[in-house]
Amino acid sequence: MPYYDRIAKQWHSITGYSGGSFKRLILNDKILSKTARIEDKAILEIGSGNGYFMKLLLKKFSGQIPSKIIISDVSKSQLELAKKHFYIPDAEYLILDVYKKFPISDNNIDLILSTMVYNEVTDKGLINAINESKRILKHGGRMITAVLHPDFIDKQVKQGVIKSGKMIANKGIRVPVLKRSMDKYREIFEKANLKSVFEDVYGNTELYNEKPVLRKIKNIPIALIIESNYQFKI
Ligand SMILES: C[S@@+](CC[C@H](N)C(=O)[O-])C[C@H]1O[C@@H](n2cnc3c(N)ncnc32)[C@H](O)[C@@H]1O
Repeated sequence: MPYYDRIAKQWHSITGYSGGSFKRLILNDKILSKTARIEDKAILEIGSGNGYFMKLLLKKFSGQIPSKIIISDVSKSQLELAKKHFYIPDAEYLILDVYKKFPISDNNIDLILSTMVYNEVTDKGLINAINESKRILKHGGRMITAVLHPDFIDKQVKQGVIKSGKMIANKGIRVPVLKRSMDKYREIFEKANLKSVFEDVYGNTELYNEKPVLRKIKNIPIALIIESNYQFKI
């Protein structure tokens, strides 16, 4: 049983309608700003969690109609929450495990989004996810990937917030976190022949006011966004 099947309800009660403080105040807008338009685009979200993000994307580009929306997660319970709380009538809700072949045909997707998923999977899972993403992306397709920043994870391990591969998030909920160096991320994306831009994402004053504990590590980036273009398909 996928781990999030057990904690899905708690996860939703914590992350709610905007993904929690960091996403609401900083990360959501950063990711949204990396998308120029969605009209006629086929969009896949991997590891959607409770599905709040696709609603934000549709709201930002209100009036533009994607050709396809696929909301996916390995956890059935997360998808059920997504359907219950952030239902999108024309979307397909799909069980997709990044360790396996994606149940999507080749050359199908324009934009793949994933937020805080690949910092929970091993190198094997990430490499498979990238290869599968390349297979299903159209020529010129894009991936926008956000993960917990390796420096942030290192710090949380040192401070004992991450123990035995789990991070204690709000309200005592424990979420899986795997350590991966910045060099390893670069190596994996480079080997996949993806033209990628890496961006460190820091907190801001508003976030530190809401989450004072993060002020102590304000010189450390919280997230890493990797924007990849797939221009090499023949
Ligand atoms: C930290 S949550 C992030 C959820 C959402 N993207 C967000 O930002 O709120 C990680 C999500 O990744 C999903 N996940 C974990 N392992 C996965 C896998 N092997 N394949 C697909 N999704 C996975 C979990 O079920 C969970 O919903």
